[in-house]
Amino acid sequence: MIEVKNLTKHYGSNRAIDNLTFSAGSESTGNIIGFLGPNGAGKSTTIRILTCFQPADSGVASVAGYNVFSQSMDVRRRIGYLPESAPLYGEMRAREYLHFRGKLHRMAKPDRDAAVKRVTERCWLGDFIDRPIGQLSKGMRQRVGLADALLHDPPVIFLDEPTIGLDPVQIRETRKLIRNLGDHHVVFLSSHILHEVEQICTHVIVVAGGRILASGAPAELSERISAGSRLIAEIKGDSESIVSAVKSLSGVENVDCERLDGWNRLAIESNGAGDIREDVFKLVSDKGWSLREMRREVASLEDFFIKITAEQSTAR
Ligand SMILES: Nc1ncnc2c1ncn2[C@@H]1O[C@H](COP(=O)(O)OP(=O)(O)OP(=O)(O)O)[C@@H](O)[C@H]1O
Ligand SMILES: [Mg+2]
Repeated sequence: MIEVKNLTKHYGSNRAIDNLTFSAGSESTGNIIGFLGPNGAGKSTTIRILTCFQPADSGVASVAGYNVFSQSMDVRRRIGYLPESAPLYGEMRAREYLHFRGKLHRMAKPDRDAAVKRVTERCWLGDFIDRPIGQLSKGMRQRVGLADALLHDPPVIFLDEPTIGLDPVQIRETRKLIRNLGDHHVVFLSSHILHEVEQICTHVIVVAGGRILASGAPAELSERISAGSRLIAEIKGDSESIVSAVKSLSGVENVDCERLDGWNRLAIESNGAGDIREDVFKLVSDKGWSLREMRREVASLEDFFIKITAEQSTAR
């Protein structure tokens, strides 16, 4: 559904995306593809190119079987696009706007009526469909933008940070909606929230600095991230004996110890090959020490980006 090869785009001398190659929306990736990356990674630039809103400097890309550069009208008919900030007309009411957009898609009146009704329900616009868009909150406008993207029931839907600006309830509802969309559409969404793409995507592409750093199923990605996580354990007893005993456990690579109101707060790094929690617990129990806390400190997305960026530069 989405094929990208050697796509590069500069803004002046700034290379926003650098030789991107990926394919998405096939059997191997599933239908919901997350484009995950920090600010400035090149997510919106890539989406704007794939939705025919801007050209690339080089490379090729096709969506739904059509070339985004030479067959842009064919692509546009088959895609829905929710941009980062939806460009809506403030003086129009949401209903009028959706009808206007339906006309642009050349939908006949009965089809348009049915489509507006469908997206109104799907995107929960019922409460404010007849209010001027200019008076709507950011989250409400985001939902109108989403309704617009779904209006002509396109096979491929691009959503640029779809949950930004929504409250927690709406975020949950939107994620549910996206998951449902995956049953009949290919959805390509950008996000900088690791947890979000883990929850809803069938395939994740990690980008930073305009390059792809990793891609795979969310579970594979979580595994790589949790490999960089640390175990925090608070144990009472002689610090030196505790540190040396924990260090000797199989798989443990490093132990930092901090004294905290009579307890030792250990940060234990392991090689990620297995779960060491049970071994730590057994050790504490065998030695007759006390344990008051044990938890996994999951590496943040930033840690993950730093880690895989470092892996990439040493691999080069
Ligand atoms: N219209 C533009 N003119 C000049 N530079 C731009 C333009 N749009 C993006 N850039 C630059 O291109 C790079 C990639 O930006 P892009 O907006 O694609 O990133 P992003 O991953 O969407 O980031 P964010 O998470 O902040 O939305 C950044 O360095 C940005 O400053
Ligand atoms: Mg962006």
